[in-house]
Amino acid sequence: MAGCAALVTGASSGIGAATALSLARQGAAVAVVARRTGRLEDLATVIRERGGSCRVLTADLGDAAQARRAIEDAVDCFTRLDVLVNNAGYVAMGTIGEGDPAEWERMVDLNFNAVLHLSQAALPHLLRAAANGPRGVADLVNVSSVGGRVVRRNNGVYSATKHAVGAFSEALRQEVTGRGIRVGLIEPGMTMTEMAAGPGAAAARGLPQNAWLDAEDIARAITFMITQPPHVAVNEIMVRPTAQEH
Ligand SMILES: NC(=O)c1ccc[n+]([C@@H]2O[C@H](COP(=O)([O-])OP(=O)(O)OC[C@H]3O[C@@H](n4cnc5c(N)ncnc54)[C@H](OP(=O)(O)O)[C@@H]3O)[C@@H](O)[C@H]2O)c1
Repeated sequence: MAGCAALVTGASSGIGAATALSLARQGAAVAVVARRTGRLEDLATVIRERGGSCRVLTADLGDAAQARRAIEDAVDCFTRLDVLVNNAGYVAMGTIGEGDPAEWERMVDLNFNAVLHLSQAALPHLLRAAANGPRGVADLVNVSSVGGRVVRRNNGVYSATKHAVGAFSEALRQEVTGRGIRVGLIEPGMTMTEMAAGPGAAAARGLPQNAWLDAEDIARAITFMITQPPHVAVNEIMVRPTAQEH
């Protein structure tokens, strides 16, 4: 991916950090976006020490203006954008009857609205990369969830946001695939990250900790999608721990 630029959201931890490292290893210049600047700076240091190029962009992506600005800042820095990975996400478990509406809004704003704004802002740049870039193709990857396919009680709002991401991804794919942009959907199962360890998460689902996926397992799937030859579009990958039943 030499000569290409990628933007990864939610890169201060978990799947996003692993994906940024993986794409940098492939030779892409990487813009990393999240709220925790210090964590992003640490990641950028690692990427630069390995000979890569990295730009830290601090943004609260729950705010549409900041989400759109992150795209423009990345393009200002690298003069191009070949890959967008919409990975940032938030989960708050709970029943709909007793759920906190502020938590619903946080999930909708980050898991879905940010994906809309980032994707629309990125499209002109991705189209340009597909037309003139070294690979002859551009990639937009949305990180959904098994919850974007399988609905479970206690997880209704998160699951709804991820179903929305799936529907949006397929519509967008149909709109842009003829112009060289591949739209991919990644659906991770239980992955050991900060999200999984957090108080609102599904940590206790009866799966022993050593059976969970690592962030790198998902980063590998994302990288597989993005590094296919230009005529090959892997549009959807679900990755579960072998031991995860649903
Ligand atoms: N872990 C799992 O089991 C699992 C399963 C299925 C799907 N997923 C999906 O995988 C994606 C990555 O999650 P993860 O497991 O890697 O969790 P994670 O380690 O908690 O990472 C979440 C990332 O999102 C960022 N983020 C949160 N709120 C943000 C905001 N308002 N603005 C900007 N960035 C924000 C966080 O950074 P800051 O806090 O620094 O902003 C962090 O970098 C999510 O979309 C999640 O839904 C995860």
